Amino acid sequence: MSVAIVFHSETGNTEGVAKRLASACGGELIPVRDCAGYNRITMYLRGAARARRRELARIEPAVIDISRHSLVVVGSPVWAWSPTPAANAAIAALRGCEGKKGIVFATCGGKPGETLVMMKDALAARGVDVVGAFPFARKDLRDELKLAELVSAVKQAAGQG
Ligand SMILES: Cc1cc2nc3c(=O)[nH]c(=O)nc-3n(C[C@H](O)[C@H](O)[C@H](O)COP(=O)(O)O)c2cc1C
Repeated sequence: MSVAIVFHSETGNTEGVAKRLASACGGELIPVRDCAGYNRITMYLRGAARARRRELARIEPAVIDISRHSLVVVGSPVWAWSPTPAANAAIAALRGCEGKKGIVFATCGGKPGETLVMMKDALAARGVDVVGAFPFARKDLRDELKLAELVSAVKQAAGQG
């Protein structure tokens, strides 16, 4: 079974987890870019409010076809205790996801709030059976055991474990 690893990352943390996951499990990395083109200031001034309002960003790619994959992993940074607008849009942009398994993860400073629940609910509304949710606080980013938990869940869901 193959894995699609869809992620948004502005400052590299979520990308880092996604890439380490891909090296451990294989799969297709699908980075999603927010066309708003935030900088470190506008992320807080505009991005956080948009995340709080659960907005969907304009993203590249606009459509994410995962028909040939059996499992979808979605990763998001936490902005204002929520998934980012780009991650919300990525879930809405999925094609061929119905009836498949999913796993979500989020990276944050330490307070993920309802982020993982919102991601799970959004994926479930797209017909995905979410079988795992993993928060990574800043202190967890270099913790091999934390990553191993995610890797193990992905391998199990993908039938590799
Ligand atoms: C606009 C903004 C809002 C944030 N809000 C939160 C938050 O509510 N809780 C938290 O723990 N961290 C928060 N953070 C920290 C990020 O979640 C954390 O640095 C994350 O790993 C960034 O992911 P990235 O490097 O993939 O972009 C926020 C960061 C930004 C830029």
